[in-house]
Amino acid sequence: MKLLSSITLTLLASTLTYAQTTMCFKENHNSMSTIETTKLNGGECKSQYTLTDMKKNGWQVDDIKITPTTSGKYNFIYILKINNSNTSFAINSNITEKQLEDKILKRLEEKKVKETKEKEIKRIVNSKIKGKKAYISNCASCHGQKGEVSAYNVAKPLKDMSAEEISHAINRYTNESDYGYGYEIMMRPIAANTRSQDVKDIKAYLDSINKK
Ligand code: HEC
Repeated sequence: MKLLSSITLTLLASTLTYAQTTMCFKENHNSMSTIETTKLNGGECKSQYTLTDMKKNGWQVDDIKITPTTSGKYNFIYILKINNSNTSFAINSNITEKQLEDKILKRLEEKKVKETKEKEIKRIVNSKIKGKKAYISNCASCHGQKGEVSAYNVAKPLKDMSAEEISHAINRYTNESDYGYGYEIMMRPIAANTRSQDVKDIKAYLDSINKK
């Protein structure tokens, strides 16, 4: 919102001088040096014209906003102005600058939501991959390939335990010398080497192979 407030002022000012204004933008562009020869989206640029094209056609840059994105690229927003008398572009009269602004904001917002979702999916996938490695090499021999075995016929199958229950048991094996069903001597050194993130990863993996 802050980003666009000065643009709103610029638009108001330009409207008063009878010049036609348009707003063109390019999201996630990686280089300042190639932006002028890159086709811009929005407004009269219509994803067809570069800034250089627009200048050739009589448009002047009235304002530029460049904001860095989290991925190390830039979002560019250009406010371009032209005298109505010599415009060679059809005036796009059915969309106001306000609507354009709203559209841009909406697109930026949608992009952010998508990126957040992708990050979350990546995180879950990574967790399962780590969990698989940890489980197969450190737990499966006693608890079964899918966490379905009751270790030494005393332990609950891990696939039926929640992450909290597993964590709780791991903590007790680690901290209480007399906790267990009688075979705790098997679990104590393993529990001492199992961090809470390992439990989360292992649980994510077990859940992924034991579809309910
Ligand atoms: C060498 C065999 C062995 C390995 C490897 C092993 N466990 Fe165990 N686990 C046991 C035994 C035996 C018990 C039951 C101990 C007792 O008597 O309390 C147990 C118990 C548990 C319990 C408690 C279950 C309950 O009913 O409360 C959890 C949780 C657990 N193990 C998790 C793990 C995890 C996670 C790993 C891998 C990081 C692992 N175990 C690796 C043998 C093993």
